Amino acid sequence: MRDLAGVKERVEELRGEINHHNYRYYVLDSPEISDAEYDELMRELKQLEEQYPQFLTPDSPTQRVGAAPVEAFGVVEHPLPLLSLGNVFSRDELLAWYTRTSRLVAGKQFNFVGEHKIDGLAVALTYVDGQLITGATRGDGFRGEDITQNLRTIRSIPLSVSKEAPTRFEVRGEVFLPKEGFNKLNQERADEGLSLFANPRNAAAGSVRQLDPRITAKRPLDIYIYMLGYAEGKATPPTHWETMEYLESLGFKVNPNNRLFTTIEQVEEYHRTWVEGKESLPYEADGIVVKVDSVDLQERLGNIGHEPRWAIAYKFPAIQATTCLNDIGISVGRTGTLNPYAILEPVSVGGVTIKQAALHNEDDIRRKDIRIGDTVIVQRAGEVIPQVIGPIVSKRSGQEKIFTMPPRCPVCGAEAIKLEGEVMHYCSNSACPAQVQQRLEHFVSRGGMDIRGIGESLSATLLQAGLVRNVADLYDLKKEQLIQLDRMADKSADNVLSSIEKSKQRPLARVIFALGILHIGEEMAELLAKEFHSIDNLAKASRDYLTNISTVGPKLADSIIVFFKQEENRNIINRLKMAGVRLEEEAAQPEELSLAGEEFVITGRLEAFSRQEAEARIKALGGSTSSSVTRRTTYLVVGADPGSKLAHAQALGTKLLTEEELLHLLEQK
Ligand code: IVH
Repeated sequence: MRDLAGVKERVEELRGEINHHNYRYYVLDSPEISDAEYDELMRELKQLEEQYPQFLTPDSPTQRVGAAPVEAFGVVEHPLPLLSLGNVFSRDELLAWYTRTSRLVAGKQFNFVGEHKIDGLAVALTYVDGQLITGATRGDGFRGEDITQNLRTIRSIPLSVSKEAPTRFEVRGEVFLPKEGFNKLNQERADEGLSLFANPRNAAAGSVRQLDPRITAKRPLDIYIYMLGYAEGKATPPTHWETMEYLESLGFKVNPNNRLFTTIEQVEEYHRTWVEGKESLPYEADGIVVKVDSVDLQERLGNIGHEPRWAIAYKFPAIQATTCLNDIGISVGRTGTLNPYAILEPVSVGGVTIKQAALHNEDDIRRKDIRIGDTVIVQRAGEVIPQVIGPIVSKRSGQEKIFTMPPRCPVCGAEAIKLEGEVMHYCSNSACPAQVQQRLEHFVSRGGMDIRGIGESLSATLLQAGLVRNVADLYDLKKEQLIQLDRMADKSADNVLSSIEKSKQRPLARVIFALGILHIGEEMAELLAKEFHSIDNLAKASRDYLTNISTVGPKLADSIIVFFKQEENRNIINRLKMAGVRLEEEAAQPEELSLAGEEFVITGRLEAFSRQEAEARIKALGGSTSSSVTRRTTYLVVGADPGSKLAHAQALGTKLLTEEELLHLLEQK
């Protein structure tokens, strides 16, 4: 038994820790511990405060919803506070919640709605006379940040709704970055030497809190609306389920995986199903949310502190495991970044064997105090690259070794340098074979010049055979040279050459991206292409001109200047020009694009191209894509083994396209 002084001390210690982690998570978007570990701290504090109410104070982190808004954005007062949810972690705890709730409504029978608890960012959207007027973050629950301009860039948020809607109403939902978009963004950030987002929630928060909405617009953010905040001037449905149907009919995006249940056993079953099934979801979910369906009962149940009594989150077990960190390896990135990674004693995490995990950079390894030989906690979330959360210090033997970055590049032996203000170390030799190969792979990649047939292995072969020394050499390749290579048949050689030929017509943004200039990702390449219309204009731009562009900071400006100053790069560009690669373009007007205003949804498997590619081609012609069918959807593209979207589209009378018809449409335009 702890004495009272001991309890008080522990309560204070927990508060200090939780406040620190709240700040890291909500303000800096950069947590140090996993959600599961955070939940555990919160749980212990709540339990102590319940048991010893004399130590409960109004400023305890259990008494507030989040952290204060960052000042860069305007402040929005929420007319009705945005609540958070209590958590349960086991069947017994769920049943205890159910029993308590039943008792509070005097044994009255009630229905439930089960929903996924998506790991994103809560927002409140206010509509007046059918127009979206404000979009805000949750902030501390009472006051959030005004991020209207950024939210307006999310295609699944209607900017206006039918005049039939209530005169003034607020809906709430979760903005999120689908797993695919999250991985892509982090990959780009890694290539650019930027720090990675720890999870999709931080990535979503980081994306909507960009001061420049054009950056937000480039991120594939999405939203599911999960409740009606308030509505004036019109009666709204008596149940949550019907309210969601009503909101869907107004054009809001509601998660198709929501279900209506009559018994708590069904809720339990829903949870079980998704513990297994969550990997296949396109978004990250960390549990289910169980809501009492009747709005009348919700009101009777009310809130306790900042948590409703009528809803609860039933979390999924975290997929974590502990294992030994045998060593720390270094891989060399395209821009020369030296990327440390953990070499682990293979361990199964949620059914997948993990041997390696990302370690980001030396500072991060220091901060987490990860040492070679440590027993570490590793975590895997969805398709996200496995992460090392931190060491278990109590398991140390004293033999563990502190890691320091090597002074030389492990591939070419050139000096490793760290620039002022940057977190990454770089290999200083731009001719380092690892860098050259990565640059070549980047150049031919799908997001770049998209040269089919030249992947990792052919890139390596071409370099080894001396046929290619830099990316411009690709355009001088001859069939006779290719067929001499191992495993290169006549037909494959033709295919490679025809892909190279086709790549000459790629849009300017792709070329800028493909060149692999430090700090230029796909988003930035598009902004620069729109701004400059040609490589020559970009190459000529002065530092002042560049830094006057709102999204270009001094670091990026310097990197562009340095790139175009280098003789070798200027030669490469000249040779690309001579080879006929398109290095300039007219700015296209959105209304001239043939698919402008048309929204496409894809279901099932496509044969001729990947879904990502189909979407890119639709977007290139001005069309938009979405992951769910609504009244605004123009076409549903039906691939092999279509999902439930097909039935939904049929019910709405949406036009259907086969993959072949889509191809036809894209080629015609
Ligand atoms: S309902 C009063 N439903 O979880 C109930 N929340 O800790 C308020 N979340 O801030 C929330 N998916 O950001 C609800 N289907 C869902 C949700 C959901 C994710 C988030 C939301 C909220 C947090 C609660």
